[in-house]
Amino acid sequence: ATLAGCGLDPSPGQTAELLTSDVPLPDAFKVPLPIPPVKRPVRSDAKADYYRVVQRKASLEILPGLKTEVLGYDGLLPGPTFDVRSGRTTVVEHVNQLDVPTVVHLHGGHTPASSDGWPLDLLMPPGGHQEHTGHHGMTGGDVKTGSRSYTFPNTQRAATLWYHDHRMDYTAPQVYRGLFGLHLVRDHEEDALPLPAGEREIPLVLADRAFAADGSFRYPARKDGPGVESKYMEGVIGDVLLVNGAPWPVLEVDAARYRFRVLNAANARRYELALDRGPAKFVQIGSDGGLLAAPVEHETVVIAPAERFDLVVDFSQYEVGTEITLLNKLDSGRAGEVMRFVVARKAADDSAIPAKLSTYAERTEPAGAVRRQWRFRRGSAGGHEGWTINGKPFDPQEMQATVPLDQDEIWSFVTDVHHPVHVHLAPFQVLRRGGGGPGRYDQGWKDTVDVRPAEVVEVLIRFTAHRGKYLIHCHNLEHEDMAMMAGFETV
Ligand code: C2O
Ligand code: CU
Repeated sequence: ATLAGCGLDPSPGQTAELLTSDVPLPDAFKVPLPIPPVKRPVRSDAKADYYRVVQRKASLEILPGLKTEVLGYDGLLPGPTFDVRSGRTTVVEHVNQLDVPTVVHLHGGHTPASSDGWPLDLLMPPGGHQEHTGHHGMTGGDVKTGSRSYTFPNTQRAATLWYHDHRMDYTAPQVYRGLFGLHLVRDHEEDALPLPAGEREIPLVLADRAFAADGSFRYPARKDGPGVESKYMEGVIGDVLLVNGAPWPVLEVDAARYRFRVLNAANARRYELALDRGPAKFVQIGSDGGLLAAPVEHETVVIAPAERFDLVVDFSQYEVGTEITLLNKLDSGRAGEVMRFVVARKAADDSAIPAKLSTYAERTEPAGAVRRQWRFRRGSAGGHEGWTINGKPFDPQEMQATVPLDQDEIWSFVTDVHHPVHVHLAPFQVLRRGGGGPGRYDQGWKDTVDVRPAEVVEVLIRFTAHRGKYLIHCHNLEHEDMAMMAGFETV
């Protein structure tokens, strides 16, 4: 149930502080939408594909005429896209050529703990010192220097996953500087459907940034230690909206159906996506954890940090020449627009959206399931004002729960303000939101759920296969760095 009488507004909105750019904002809808390149394996065998990614600095022209230094996987923002098959293992050797420690996490991955990116399992740059380890200078992680291999078994259904930095206390600035990319898992169930594909299957990775006069990213890091300046503790939102790393881009489309895999990779910004003109609507076919059972139509789509929505838009409903703007209804002015589509030509289209997309187990609530409650609240962390779970700031030495494998559990997430709650290792299904059934955007398998102010969301979750230490945390990255994270152990 919603917490009655607390006076908090449960409506959508930003829980964050706007950081503005010191440069004039570029004109909208001039830059063509870039598509992140697909990563090629260096070799493959019967069971696995092996890749090598270099984490390095690069100077990119994000705003026209300005250079921005990024920390990028292969020097890119976003990083290269992994496009892999369910059941085939992906092994990625990450080489750290930066001057900061990093940690790689595959968000939504069914990953063994040793490759899941525990926040102290650092990959140090060559010659790196180990002093930058956390609030309390804690080590105790599995630290490697120069390079490390991550193994992702991809033993999961087709889904839009992503990978990003997860270093303790520094995830927000490191993702902000560029350490994020897509990891798509495909399978036969999805291949058999007549969904838009090829040139008509397009990732839209949303993020926002603010720029200094010299073109560098502005990020309000604390000068005296980890974390963000206290004014920005609510979360950092920038005034430049990027899609696939380009500001307010434009995409020419055929008058045909397109499949957009939308990822909100912003640190703290929430979006409410809408098209500025009908008749087309969004037809949602998938969520964080892959295809829905059946498509769902939406006028607008609210997407919180780290969530993914797989949306089909049918541009054949427009005349050639029509310009359609993708709006963000949570904001006005420049932040109220995201990108534009221009219907460039008529074209044949043999795609379709089947009425039945996928088969998966119904949400049934097991009698006597173990219940756990996770309370996401403001609180003090490491001697500083911050965020807590169940009253505690993140402590890598403490597991807040011991969770048996292969057992259905009902977890409830309770909030004060907006928190996009994410659980590692296993996806979940939403059972209840605010005392009612699942919300409009809660369909399918989720790994991140947008819990609104003073709300309770209950989910059904079950962990399988991998024993070890995993995380539950808020995916507002400033909240995460300000300690809104907890470890649990699967046994
Ligand atoms: Cu997307 Cu623990 O992270
Ligand atoms: Cu939060």
